[in-house]
Amino acid sequence: MSATSLLSSKPIAPKDRLIFALDLPTSKEALEWVDKLGDAVTFHKVGFQLFMAEGYWELVEALKARGKKVFVDLKFFDVPETVKNAVANLSKRGVECCTVHGSQAILEGAVSAKGSMKVLAVTVLTSLDRGDLDDLGFQCNVEELVYSRAKRALALGCDGVISSGMEAARLREGLGEKLLIVTPGIRPVENKPVDDQKRTMTLEEAFRAGADHVVVGRPIRQASDPRAKALEMQEEIAALFALGTQRV
Ligand code: C5P
Repeated sequence: MSATSLLSSKPIAPKDRLIFALDLPTSKEALEWVDKLGDAVTFHKVGFQLFMAEGYWELVEALKARGKKVFVDLKFFDVPETVKNAVANLSKRGVECCTVHGSQAILEGAVSAKGSMKVLAVTVLTSLDRGDLDDLGFQCNVEELVYSRAKRALALGCDGVISSGMEAARLREGLGEKLLIVTPGIRPVENKPVDDQKRTMTLEEAFRAGADHVVVGRPIRQASDPRAKALEMQEEIAALFALGTQRV
């Protein structure tokens, strides 16, 4: 990692920089987790697993009623008109952001219908590495692919991207402050990488590389005391951003 710190200077409350991935089997369990974590987490991500269970939108409403920010991570990918209409419907639900895969026309469709909701383009899933990209028929390196997709997304009017911390610094340096960088694949040093995530970083590394938000699931969910783990991460984030824009 570069020795230079690229800490985000966007006016985001430090607590909102941590997004918890509510990857749980049912909405009931998800809400129990929301209440168990309480004020340790202010921003929650609701994805596919819950979407396929009962009560997804009731959960979104329950989160909003508790004053939480909501990230709808359904990774839309379809013909441009369908994505546009899906984003138009979602934008009426008062959530912060959503994710979209895709070509120029798909991203344009999403941007045209997003209203005040943020559209984040998926670059390259953090669970994919060089071998997986070969398998999918991509010859270029991961960093190039992430950069070109992020550059295009920004030019088309997307608010930001989902990117691993490993590519965040290049994005921040090359594409500027405006781009919102949301980084999953956060792993503590001691268990790097032991699951499906391959392009991982620690929380501090990801923020120093320019991430605006991190998405954390298993490191909190699988902790022996999840609320204590989330609070520990919040303390780390608060300390990091208390340094302001100080360059290390
Ligand atoms: O459990 P873990 O910390 O790996 O959770 C990461 C979350 O971020 C998951 O919900 C996953 O869907 C999501 N995500 C990701 N890579 C992306 C986009 C989203 O890991 N490119």
